[in-house]
Amino acid sequence: MKTITLKLVTVSILATGIALMAGCSGNETNNTSGAAPESMINKPAADNGEGIGKFSGITLAAFDATLAASGKSVFETKCSACHKITDQKVVGPGLKGVTQRRKPAWILNMITNPEEMTKKDPQAMKLLEEHLTQMTFQNVTDDEAKAILEYMREIDGEGSTAQQ
Ligand code: HEC
Repeated sequence: MKTITLKLVTVSILATGIALMAGCSGNETNNTSGAAPESMINKPAADNGEGIGKFSGITLAAFDATLAASGKSVFETKCSACHKITDQKVVGPGLKGVTQRRKPAWILNMITNPEEMTKKDPQAMKLLEEHLTQMTFQNVTDDEAKAILEYMREIDGEGSTAQQ
C-alpha cells in the first residue's frame, strides 16, 4: 500500500512540474514581442561600416585647410611613430587612401576608441590580425581626432582642388 501512495505522490509532483514548465515556456514566447530575444544579445552589432564608438552618421563638410594643418601637427606628435602617410606599413598600416576605404565615423572611432574597435569591429579585428600590435588610445580629444581626419583627407588629395 505504502509504495502505491508514494508512486501517486511522485506522479502528481511530476505532473505539477510539467505543468509549471509548460507555463514558463508559454510565458517566454509571449515575452519575445517586448524584450530582445536572448539570441540577439550576444551577437555583434550589424556592421554598417561606421565602427564602434561615439561617432556615427558623420557627413563631411567642405575641406578645411587650417583644420588639416592642426591635424598634421597632432599626427606628427602622437601617431607618426606607428603610421606613415604613404601606403607603407610601420607598426600600423600606412594611412594613404584611408578616407577612401573607410567611412568618416569609422576613422574617428578608430582614433578615439581603438581597443574596443579591434575587439568588436570586423574590419579593425582583421587589422589587428595582420599587424599583431594593439593600437592604443593616444589621448586625443574629439576635436583633435576630427582635425586628424581632415589631414587624412588632405593626404588623399581633397585639398588639391581647393589650392590656389
Ligand atoms: C603604438 C602604435 C600606434 C600608434 C601610436 C597609433 N596607431 Fe593607429 N594603428 C596601429 C595599428 C597596429 C593599427 C592596426 C590595428 C591594430 O592592430 O590595433 C592601427 C590602425 C589605425 C587606423 C586604421 C587604418 C586602416 O587601414 O584602416 C587608423 C585610421 C589609425 N590607426 C590612426 C591613428 C592615428 C590618427 C593615431 C594618432 C592619434 C594612431 N593611429 C596612433 C598602431 C598605432
